[in-house]
Amino acid sequence: MTVERATTYHNFLKSWVEGLTVHHPHTLNHAKRPNVHVVFHIYDFLLLFGPVISWWCFPFERIIGFLQKINTANHIGGELEGTLTKSFLRGANLRRWLRRSDCPEIIKQFKAIFDRAFAPQSERAGTSPPLVRDSNHAHYMFNGTNFSCALMHLGNSLVLYYPSTSASEPIAGSIEKIISRGDKTSFIIRCQAPLPTGQFDPFLRYYPYFPAQTYSTKMQNTTDTVHPSMILSHGARFEFSEDRAVVLNLSRS
Ligand SMILES: *[C@@H]1O[C@H](CO)[C@@H](O)[C@H](O)[C@H]1NC(C)=O
Ligand SMILES: *[C@@H]1O[C@H](CO)[C@@H](O)[C@H](O)[C@H]1NC(C)=O
Ligand SMILES: *[C@@H]1O[C@H](CO)[C@@H](O)[C@H](O)[C@H]1NC(C)=O
Ligand SMILES: *[C@@H]1O[C@H](CO)[C@@H](O)[C@H](O)[C@H]1NC(C)=O
Repeated sequence: MTVERATTYHNFLKSWVEGLTVHHPHTLNHAKRPNVHVVFHIYDFLLLFGPVISWWCFPFERIIGFLQKINTANHIGGELEGTLTKSFLRGANLRRWLRRSDCPEIIKQFKAIFDRAFAPQSERAGTSPPLVRDSNHAHYMFNGTNFSCALMHLGNSLVLYYPSTSASEPIAGSIEKIISRGDKTSFIIRCQAPLPTGQFDPFLRYYPYFPAQTYSTKMQNTTDTVHPSMILSHGARFEFSEDRAVVLNLSRS
């Protein structure tokens, strides 16, 4: 997180709030919402705690979901919950230590043993094995990420990819086929047609802070055949008008 990014967040938010009564005049008659006030404080938290991904509530939501699924055979009332909460906090403290530059050597040494016992999910998932007979995959795991053909799961088929090794910019597309020949796997991707010249991309002014780009809603007539490593990330696509679709870069790096 940089001061510049946090300030940009603040400015975008301000222009959104200012635009609200202009574009949706009925909001003038509403009581002021506390949410609109509260989101401005995210600016302070960005500066204090860094990117939201480090302090958002998803991990806690996840642990609540995990706790609710535990079969306790009605043994509720304190002890079990206490034990679970303590283990969770111990785990969090350990991870916090491991991220610190002054992490004691002994904790680092234990991490090596721990990693061998409990490999991270992405490493466990790894890459799908080749098929016994040459054929097509409906979905394929590459380096911990699950890709699907459009017919199987449209969302998992939307990607940003480099159409060739010489391409400098990734483009958006949808995986049509995943072909397995011997131990070689290739993705056949139909790319999203570019925005026709002269059409307006309303997301351009937020780039690169909000890494979304507008394309045509149409697909190209040609496909690219690429190695899975040419895929940068999944993308999310939303058709916001008859002829324009926005594609958001979902890269985790
Ligand atoms: C797989 O992912 C890891 C960690 O994200 C990365 O370091 C590595 O280069 C990736 N391997 C390939 C073949 O893309
Ligand atoms: C990958 O996605 C497909 C389609 O959504 C699903 O059926 C499959 O179980 C997923 N594979 C893994 C390993 O998550
Ligand atoms: C694809 O081909 C059809 C007919 O050949 C044409 O009408 C259409 O405009 C083409 N689409 C794109 C995106 O080039
Ligand atoms: C996609 O997002 C990642 C992480 O935000 C960034 O590093 C990368 O440059 C972006 N690529 C494009 C084409 O927007």
